[in-house]
Amino acid sequence: MKIIRSRTLGSKWIKTKILLRNKILRTFVPHTRLYNELNLLYMLNKHNMVYVKPVIGTFGQGVIRVKKLSAGRYNYQIGTVSKTFNSYRELVHSLNKAKLNRNYLIQKGIRLLTYRGRIFDIRVMVQKNASDYWEATGYIGRVAHPQKIVTNFHNSGKPLPLETLLGAHIKEAEKKKNYIDQLVRLGNEIAQQFSRSHPGYKEIGVDIGVDSTLKPWILEVNTSPDPFIFNQLKDKRMFYKALRLARLHGRFIARKRTKRR
Ligand SMILES: Nc1ncnc2c1ncn2[C@@H]1O[C@H](COP(=O)(O)OP(=O)(O)OP(=O)(O)O)[C@@H](O)[C@H]1O
Ligand SMILES: [Mg+2]
Repeated sequence: MKIIRSRTLGSKWIKTKILLRNKILRTFVPHTRLYNELNLLYMLNKHNMVYVKPVIGTFGQGVIRVKKLSAGRYNYQIGTVSKTFNSYRELVHSLNKAKLNRNYLIQKGIRLLTYRGRIFDIRVMVQKNASDYWEATGYIGRVAHPQKIVTNFHNSGKPLPLETLLGAHIKEAEKKKNYIDQLVRLGNEIAQQFSRSHPGYKEIGVDIGVDSTLKPWILEVNTSPDPFIFNQLKDKRMFYKALRLARLHGRFIARKRTKRR
């Protein structure tokens, strides 16, 4: 196995392959293919709903949800714009114009749980601490804007305590706690897996989508995760911890101003 020293990694495709090398983690990765017209047709026939995402992308920019409807019809949504087509040809023609000039991948779409009618997903933050051990420092839920298909804060998503969002789906407090513990363990396992080939990584932020059977799915692993999302919570403990460890790794350190002469 090639060992890579860099500290961050942009390509969602390479990150997916790292996860697929692990027998346990593999079962949490939605089926993924690189984008081309044949693969899109295959993925739509298999899953009916897919997400088409730039291989290198942030903030949910350029993310498209594509659906196969009945009677040979198709639909896609990007931002708040939704379009429906009467044939696969028309869909692809329009998609090719809507896509940014980048490589894309296609991922099985997860029917995410909702909170007050809006989809949400989960961010779990795992960072190396001062003793060089991976530690899960925070978790938070992110609710999508009602007209959007992504939950990103930079895309009008709303960060809320995960306990609140899971409330309607897992009633018993003890069960909810156990469920969150399971997500935290998943985050830790992902950090270990990335460390094997990329020992330079110090921090990861895992985006987890949960379906109606409560199965967690790894939507994405970020290698330069934003600690400031936790500042949205009233309880600042996760924020302080995550920011402290981000600083330990050289991020968000205010530079002292020196007078220019
Ligand atoms: N397979 C999927 N099924 C359901 N929802 C998805 C799927 N993939 C992505 N999403 C939604 O789109 C959002 C953005 O996707 P993703 O996290 O992969 O890219 P990104 O946010 O642009 O990248 P980054 O997190 O590095 O900024 C996710 O947070 C989630 O809300
Ligand atoms: Mg993301």
